[in-house]
Parts: sequence; C-alpha cells; structure tokens
Amino acid sequence: MEKTLIILKPDAIQRRLAGKILSRFEEKGFQIIGLKMIQITESAAKKHYAAHEGKDFFEPLVRYTSSSPVIVLALKGKNVVDIVRKMMGATFGSRAEPGTIRGDYAVSNRFNLIHGSDSPAAAENEINTFFRKEELLEYNPTDMQWVYDISTGQVI
Ligand code: RTP
Ligand code: MG
Repeated sequence: MEKTLIILKPDAIQRRLAGKILSRFEEKGFQIIGLKMIQITESAAKKHYAAHEGKDFFEPLVRYTSSSPVIVLALKGKNVVDIVRKMMGATFGSRAEPGTIRGDYAVSNRFNLIHGSDSPAAAENEINTFFRKEELLEYNPTDMQWVYDISTGQVI
C-alpha cells in the first residue's frame, strides 16, 4: 500500500472547501492515516517547493503557501500517489478538466487549492516532514474487503 501527502492550501481553507475536497478522497476509498491543521512557515514553504527555487513564481508561491492555515493530510491506498494527482487535475485551475478538484473549484493559475506528492519517494519525504511518527495512525478500515477484492490474498 502506497502513501501520499496532501496539503489543502490556504485558499481551500479560506473558501471553506476543505470538507468537499476531503470527501472526494474518502468516497474514492482512500484511508486517512494523518490529518492536522497548521500554518506553514516561510522557511518550510521554501523547503517544500525547493524544486522551484529561482523560477519567477517561487516568491509568490512561498508567500501564498505560508499566508494562512492549511490542512495537511496523509492518505493510504493502492497507487494513491498517481490517482490523487489525477483527482487534483492540471496545475493551472484555468486548464484543469471539469470533474477534477482544481477543474471544479479553481480558476487561478496559482491559487489552485491543493498539493499532492508527485512520486512515492517524494511522498515519504513530505509525510516525514509534516508528521511526527506518532501522528500517523495504523488501523484496519472495516470496509477494506469491499473497497478492494482481497479474497485472493492480493489487493485488486
Ligand atoms: P503542487 O506541487 O502544489 O502539488 O502543484 P503541481 O505539482 O501541480 O505544480 P508545480 O509545477 O509543482 O507548481 C507548484 C505550485 O506553484 C504554483 N505555480 N505558479 N506559473 C506560475 O505562476 C505557477 N506555476 C506553478 C501553483 O500553486 C503550483 O501548484
Ligand atoms: Mg509539484
């Protein structure tokens, strides 16, 4: 089972869309293993988006990310990294397909509501950055045998 790190960005909280976005992941069948509200510091935002350092949108991106509280969320599921990226939609709200989170709720090319890890390796790093070990909870979801076919010993 794979894990991913999601951030419901400041605009998601300010626009009261957190519940709707969280519901999509719950309804899809992913398991919430960590969740908390925090305000990301400027230095943490710089570190999180270090890959974009030097780009013209880096400074406003850091300002945006650290401007107001966010919800950080760790999700678990088969292929969760890729599936969540598809559910988020394209980076720019203006280009994201209807039916995706950004496509349904965002028009801005910066204020795009949500971050999702872009690889399993990035997910592991980001989860460890935002959560302490004891904040990540191991439990067996009771609907597991209906979300997946586990009757053969594999997760299908
Ligand atoms: P994220 O990292 O937040 O999940 O988003 P992403 O992979 O879809 O997009 P990425 O290329 O990593 O960009 C990170 C965030 O920077 C803002 N951005 N602004 N041209 C611009 O002004 C511009 N391009 C990107 C967005 O908030 C984007 O999510
Ligand atoms: Mg990215």
